[in-house]
Amino acid sequence: MTFTPAVPADRAADRVRAATGPDEAAALAYPNIALVKYWGKRDESLFLPVTSSLSMTLDIFPTTTTVRLIDGPADTVEFNGATATGSARTRIERFLDLVRTTAGRTERAMVVTANAGPTGAGLASSASGFAALATAAAAAYGLELDGRALSRLARRGSGSASRSLFGGFVVWHAGEGDGAVGDRSSYAEPIGGDELDPALVVAVVNQTAKAVSSREAMRRTTATSPCYRSWADSSMTDFTEMRAAIARQDLPAIGEIAERNALGMHATMLTARPAVRYLSPHSLAVLDAVLALRADGITAYATIDAGPNVKVLCTRADAPHVAATIDGLGDFVTTRTAHIGPGATLLPDTGR
Ligand code: DP6
Repeated sequence: MTFTPAVPADRAADRVRAATGPDEAAALAYPNIALVKYWGKRDESLFLPVTSSLSMTLDIFPTTTTVRLIDGPADTVEFNGATATGSARTRIERFLDLVRTTAGRTERAMVVTANAGPTGAGLASSASGFAALATAAAAAYGLELDGRALSRLARRGSGSASRSLFGGFVVWHAGEGDGAVGDRSSYAEPIGGDELDPALVVAVVNQTAKAVSSREAMRRTTATSPCYRSWADSSMTDFTEMRAAIARQDLPAIGEIAERNALGMHATMLTARPAVRYLSPHSLAVLDAVLALRADGITAYATIDAGPNVKVLCTRADAPHVAATIDGLGDFVTTRTAHIGPGATLLPDTGR
């Protein structure tokens, strides 16, 4: 199977650059993959999570977004070359309303956004998407926010987007309390450790958007799974142990914690009522290959988000062998190898 990106990153960035001028800004942001997952909100409207999470920002599949203030009566949203409709559009409009309220401005905006990777397939497109939108919209509306404030803003578009503001290994603190106190204390920040320089082999077994959104799956799981509370408790331990493993640059420990955290999260979905099952036979075939690689002495561990695609953490040196092994499983899977990527940036000559 050949992997076809929706819009090549360089072309998307060129289109956006060509469109920028006064009162407009363009930004680029990369997806992040959580090694300790965010799965469950304690406050739906403020996007306050139940647990803290920890991720690695990638250097593939970026989103490029431009925001231009306009005279018109309504926001317009173009997504991957077509007019956005439905919930994708509503989420962006609501987010722009939040930016406008924060900035004390009323102008509507034209948003043009493009993903270089698959959208809604558990490959963190909403993380890169809202990180790019928050960065561009804050600049276009003249909001001057530091990294912490920008991560809190991006969090309100999609929780995982808070982490894509930063490069490398990033934590998103659950924070404490409700309302404004909770909002202020729930932010993301980079934690260093990038010298470890691991690879993440992304095994794409299905590029199509999932039937149940991660937001709905998360809601259903927290509300109905009898296993949810025990996963959340163990995830807090995973978070502490993961930070220590990153600090001592211990890739096998990082991999082990990431894999158990992700499989535990899927166990909570499988026990939701009704169950949510993102794992397909192809996902399981990749998981089996990861076990076989480990049996051969290769440091390779899997993590999976709200979709069937599997990401395999390994050393940079082992990545070609890991990718070749997975590619060799058959036509149903194709791989892209990612490394540690940078935080969100404004594109040149835009913003204020
Ligand atoms: C499985 O950040 O997409 O990828 O906050 O509702 O937009 P919303 O959810 P989203 O959920 C991501 C879930 C995850 C785990 C993670 O990235 O930590």
